[in-house]
Amino acid sequence: RLLQGAQFVLAAHRISQLPADQGAEVAFAGRSNAGKSSALNALTNHKGLARTSKTPGRTQQMVAFSLPPTQIDGVSLEPRLIDLPGYGYAKVPLEMREHWKLEIDAYLHQRRSLRGLVLIVDIRHPLKEFDRMMLEFCFATQLPCHVLLTKADKLSRNQAMQALAALRKQFADNSPHATAQIFSSSANTGVDEAREAVMTLLRT
Ligand code: GTP
Ligand code: MG
Repeated sequence: RLLQGAQFVLAAHRISQLPADQGAEVAFAGRSNAGKSSALNALTNHKGLARTSKTPGRTQQMVAFSLPPTQIDGVSLEPRLIDLPGYGYAKVPLEMREHWKLEIDAYLHQRRSLRGLVLIVDIRHPLKEFDRMMLEFCFATQLPCHVLLTKADKLSRNQAMQALAALRKQFADNSPHATAQIFSSSANTGVDEAREAVMTLLRT
């Protein structure tokens, strides 16, 4: 039931084109090909919602999705989910990468309705530079962050648990604002847990 009924709203090339900055939204960020769009589809239980691709750099837009109105603390909200462009793919032209670097930065700093970040990380390649930057930003501004260590189906259960423990260690003093879990869009691992986490962010 959680996060069901999501609908595409619009795709934006700059933050000024996003829906009005009111209510509550949660953004999905991560490196190119990490599995952001797949995670969004798994969480909303809607396979064709966000476009996924084997080719990294597929999502070169900020894509906004709306959820049906829900009562949050007695207030009716129409929450949004935002699929941010993948970051770090070398074949995306430099100019485009620079553009998105600035836009993502502006989005994180200016977006008042942003309640939290879901950081999608390939469990086999934890915390590359972009991921660290995002985490540092969240820690510095106390923006809540939930990390999905995705593609967990590529590792054994044991290896996955080790990756999770290693990541949590890096949260250190920031653990009140940062949470993490194992996830897989293909194997449907951790989907309910992640839905709860997104709802918690939206309620923040
Ligand atoms: P960009 O939009 O290009 O930044 O990529 P993205 O982060 O949105 O990744 P996307 O969801 O398009 O997935 C990239 C590739 O990884 C696709 O081939 C997916 O099928 C695959 N993939 C995504 N999630 C999983 C997963 O949990 N397990 C496995 N094995 N593959 C996955
Ligand atoms: Mg994508």
